[in-house]
Amino acid sequence: MSVASLKGRDLLSMADLTAEEVLTLLQLAADMKAGKVNLRCENKVLGLLFSKASTRTRVSFSVAMCQLGGQVLDLNASVTQVGRGEPTVDTARVLDRYLDVLAIRTFEQQELETFAHYAKIPVINALTDLEHPCQVLADLQTAQEEFGQLEGITLTYVGDGNNMANSLLLGCALTGMNVRIASPEGYRPDPAIVAKAEAIAAGRSEVLITSDPEIAAKGSHVLYTDVWASMGQENEAESRLPVFQPYQVNQPLLSLADPKAIVLHCLPAHRGEEITESVMEGPQSRIWDEAENRLHAQKALLACVLGAK
Ligand code: CP
Ligand code: NVA
Repeated sequence: MSVASLKGRDLLSMADLTAEEVLTLLQLAADMKAGKVNLRCENKVLGLLFSKASTRTRVSFSVAMCQLGGQVLDLNASVTQVGRGEPTVDTARVLDRYLDVLAIRTFEQQELETFAHYAKIPVINALTDLEHPCQVLADLQTAQEEFGQLEGITLTYVGDGNNMANSLLLGCALTGMNVRIASPEGYRPDPAIVAKAEAIAAGRSEVLITSDPEIAAKGSHVLYTDVWASMGQENEAESRLPVFQPYQVNQPLLSLADPKAIVLHCLPAHRGEEITESVMEGPQSRIWDEAENRLHAQKALLACVLGAK
């Protein structure tokens, strides 16, 4: 099984996928995890061009490509001409001639879009300031493992309306999940993405943006959080602490959720800030399964965009 429509395609935003493509990708990821499917991408080469730090995304993409029988090249800016300012439009056209697929982690979504425009090979968003779709594929896989389905399940994200909040809004709306985002005023998700999620949900599922974490958490099946200051915002970390303190995922907040609720965090986490140690290490946490699923979800994605048989 593979999603034939994804062959040769970019994944720049969660909204680049249809609902059917997401669900088929998740099924393929589950089958790969269970060892039921063994697709091959021999002689294919994945380039990783990362301008920000990464543990999970870098390692899970590398291991996924190795398990598919392909190769990985780390195109770290400090060892390529990227770090010396070679224009994106030139780098993109050159890498296109060597690689079969390129995963990019950067700041501006626009830079990713420029790469995708100038490179004909599939370009995958490995995190920008706007979105983190690969993480959301793993998050949805983890929720599906727990609840057996996504439609009708409610996910509540508490914290900064950042790249994670944006991609979760789209991913949940696409799969028929109810999605609630609780963020302080001034830190809400991207308005254009909220509008897109509302259009996708089209009244069939809930899209709620609120500043009240308790209302958002009530009866929810998945409680999700992320750091209060993302990569590139380190200088705001201190000043954000008092603003975000009421948005901590802790035991009292978790007790408002459905009794069978699970807790997710994309990681890395700051224990004692956006999540408490006891919730992170508690029985409702599925954070380590979620991290593992990065491997399976991205392996499915790579196999599909490379048209593996
Ligand atoms: N969740 C995530 O993308 O982790 P890394 O920054 O370590 O890749
Ligand atoms: N919002 C975080 C996610 C890290 C995986 C960041 O952008 O730093």
